[in-house]
Amino acid sequence: MIPKQYIHQIIKEKNGLLSKLLDPKENNINLHGVLKSIGRLPNDFDGQCFVSLIEHPNDKIRLLAVKNIGILNTDRYLGVVTHVAQNEKNTMIRREAISSIGRMRSEKAIPFLLKKLEDSDPKIVLQVVRALLVFKNHKNVREQLKNLAHHPNEMIQSVIEREFSKSETVTQRIKKHSESPHFMKNVVVHGDVRKTMNHVPDESIHLTFTSPPYYNARDYSIYQSYKDYLKFFKRGF
Ligand SMILES: C[S@@+](CC[C@H](N)C(=O)[O-])C[C@H]1O[C@@H](n2cnc3c(N)ncnc32)[C@H](O)[C@@H]1O
Repeated sequence: MIPKQYIHQIIKEKNGLLSKLLDPKENNINLHGVLKSIGRLPNDFDGQCFVSLIEHPNDKIRLLAVKNIGILNTDRYLGVVTHVAQNEKNTMIRREAISSIGRMRSEKAIPFLLKKLEDSDPKIVLQVVRALLVFKNHKNVREQLKNLAHHPNEMIQSVIEREFSKSETVTQRIKKHSESPHFMKNVVVHGDVRKTMNHVPDESIHLTFTSPPYYNARDYSIYQSYKDYLKFFKRGF
């Protein structure tokens, strides 16, 4: 196990030693641990040591290699990461590649990102949207982002709505998040759920966390039949 402090030290001093630790030919059994411990990198850090890991057989290593390329303060490896975003089989790594491209904040990536807006994975599209929002003042970027107000994915719709609705009209309205009435906030209610729920207005619950009664396994509530038990739930919810 190589201590984190040591990794941070060799990053600061010189990256020759780190490159050696990350060299796949060196057969370092703790490659994953080293990659995970890297953290912030100096501005002039040469990330070539990560590039040699993007074809590594281990998914976790490839993921961290792509992530670290995104932390570098340069778009020198833009071609490498776009290649990963296009050709990598693992979905998580493809998403990480897009996120790394976003962190580069490079105008050179705009054509690729615009094409990627058509990806079939909504999480990829969401990462692409985040990356492109940096350039929302470019007319063509702005237009294409605004078109996503009609995207089938709700998260994407809502990001576009938030970004553009204040200044411009987005045709598709997104339903407003429901509000809870004041009397329901920060209270503990001790009662029979079948009665107390009558006081809770419709469309006012965002999340339910429950430990409901078991079916006749304890004596706190006995149900005549399983059907009755399900009826109880239906009423409560
Ligand atoms: C599985 S236990 C949950 C226990 C709870 N998580 C705790 O740590 O005390 C189900 C609980 O639901 C309560 N319960 C049963 N019928 C109820 C009803 N109609 N309204 C409200 N609570 C009910 C039972 O008394 C029991 O405490």
